[in-house]
Amino acid sequence: MSDPQNPRAAALLEVEDLHVTFGRKHKTYAVNGVSFTVNAGETLALVGESGSGKSTTARAALHLETPDRGRVRLMGRDLAEVRTRELRSMRRHAQMVFQDPYSSLDPSMTIMRIVEEPLRVHTAMSRDERRERVVEVLGLCGVPAAHLHRFPGEFSGGQRQRIAIARAIATNPELVVADEAVSALDVSIRNQILNLFEDLQRKLGIAYLFITHDLGVVEQVAHRVAIMYLGRIVELGPTAEVFAEPRHPYTRALLDARPDLTRDVGGVRQTIQGDPPDPTDLVQGCAFAGRCPYAVDLCREVTPASIEIDGRESACHLDGRLVAEVPGAEPSGAEPSGAGR
Ligand SMILES: Nc1ncnc2c1ncn2[C@@H]1O[C@H](COP(=O)(O)OP(=O)(O)O)[C@@H](O)[C@H]1O
Ligand SMILES: [Mg+2]
Repeated sequence: MSDPQNPRAAALLEVEDLHVTFGRKHKTYAVNGVSFTVNAGETLALVGESGSGKSTTARAALHLETPDRGRVRLMGRDLAEVRTRELRSMRRHAQMVFQDPYSSLDPSMTIMRIVEEPLRVHTAMSRDERRERVVEVLGLCGVPAAHLHRFPGEFSGGQRQRIAIARAIATNPELVVADEAVSALDVSIRNQILNLFEDLQRKLGIAYLFITHDLGVVEQVAHRVAIMYLGRIVELGPTAEVFAEPRHPYTRALLDARPDLTRDVGGVRQTIQGDPPDPTDLVQGCAFAGRCPYAVDLCREVTPASIEIDGRESACHLDGRLVAEVPGAEPSGAEPSGAGR
């Protein structure tokens, strides 16, 4: 990578204090100060409920969406400082796979054309070289070369996702952003595609920003996990540690509400009370305070900063001191406080 003197050179993607809003008069605060890093060869999962800002974060991280504020570095380059043409060429290093392979693959194009497209855009390869590369990446993704001249409509959902992944890895990217890439697939097909992602990571060293709302998927593939709530990352850390000992009440609630019959939840299944606040309000204090059983006045007044301890981050005033140890922080049965609304 660019600078061997730079101790952070292993960071492939660095996102710092990213903000994205939509609309002018009626603003939606989709992404509200998000920071994270994806290191070379790792999988970072971005998890959260629908509308929490995962897709917008991913798009802004590749400057497919222009952030209002914040900084993105891809392979050490600040994307705000690279010119449009260079930004295009940076994209060969970071490709995307989307949820729905039915709509993301042009039905009028052959598999050859679909997978070849990024090579046409980003490389100076000859026609023969491109063809060779297309056959190679399809092979890596378990799609026989005999299918080259077929159309997406002739394939099942799982096969289409293999084709979409082949297209994404054609330019040999260091990073693939997968946005709900297995969410539309049946369980058995989903596992095959997750295995393919892992297999490609082992063989090619690809890093993934893996967006999903499925905690089972996170547990299966992610080295680290970032939990998003209402445009912010509330907790981030190694997956096994976060799942074993969540620090943020929202993470706890998510894990407890998980429909997983193999997990002993001690007979108490705590579900998340109330509705997520509307991202058209810029909430004062902690965005989760209105649904948090532990919230104290401070939570409704001051937005908690993300604190990092031993590679784990959490944005909670009560971090590590939940329940009994905090005066007045007993679970209240969670009446949504309505504070700040
Ligand atoms: N292009 C857009 N225009 C207006 N609002 C948008 C747009 N894209 C996303 N939003 C809003 O931003 C918020 C975050 O959306 P999104 O990033 O898609 O969340 P997620 O991927 O976690 O479901 C939502 O309130 C959504 O309605
Ligand atoms: Mg989304």
